[in-house]
Amino acid sequence: MQANHPIGIFDSGYGGLTILRQIRSMLPDYDYIYLGDNARAPYGSRSFETIYEYTLEAVKWFFKQGCPLVILACNTASAKALRTIQQKDLPGLAPDNRVLGIVRPTSEVIGDMSEGGNIGILATQGTVESESYLLEIEKFFPEVSVFQQACPIWVPLVEYGEQDNPGTDYFVRKYIDLLLKKEPRIDTVLLACTHYPLLLEKIKEYMPVDIQVITQGQIVADSLADYLLRHSELTERITREGQMDFYTTERATTFNRQAERFFGTEVGATQVHKL
Ligand code: DGL
Repeated sequence: MQANHPIGIFDSGYGGLTILRQIRSMLPDYDYIYLGDNARAPYGSRSFETIYEYTLEAVKWFFKQGCPLVILACNTASAKALRTIQQKDLPGLAPDNRVLGIVRPTSEVIGDMSEGGNIGILATQGTVESESYLLEIEKFFPEVSVFQQACPIWVPLVEYGEQDNPGTDYFVRKYIDLLLKKEPRIDTVLLACTHYPLLLEKIKEYMPVDIQVITQGQIVADSLADYLLRHSELTERITREGQMDFYTTERATTFNRQAERFFGTEVGATQVHKL
């Protein structure tokens, strides 16, 4: 029997499931393995060193599971750990494997979505402080202005299943208002955290109707499909049985209960006790 060599999808918790959902619907034949580091989420306000350490542990775990390709489906990990892992760790760990993030593919297209050239970024504190979106978007769209707002409470609200409750409205409105105060001409807002699509309904309620709100799932799926086409030597190493396995560093029963809201269908996760 052929060993399984899936694509690894990583997030600090549940958010990456919103990305896997779109990837899987676009590329259903590949095998996937999802890991949520729920026991240590949220990553958003942690230091560079801690996010790097946790993300590297996860990447090594994926490689042990046989993944030739790992996607950091987490903006915070992509912004704070990806570059160091790609440049410093990967050559010694597994030079033929690849680790990709989601900041760059999003930055490559987001500038084309804004008519007026004023883009708002809502993200975790870690992503905002890294300035990754400012730097990356500038490379592809130097004429576009980018304004950022950290939303530190949003991820815990979503992780604890509070996204539809009335108390959440206050915090959703608060960060939208703070962002729009920075530049009222913003016409496009990127939800640059994979947890935020769960708040989409509430975000739309408080966002002026003429501002479009962009989520990343489809962008990342399109970019991955294109990447796999262009890198056949890597693509050939990924197995295609249409299998999906879910892992969490927290209790599996809790993960399964919450995950459905992010993934759309039931999942049966296994707990990993140590990465
Ligand atoms: N889902 C992660 C992201 O896209 C952040 C969650 C966290 O703070 O752990 O940034």
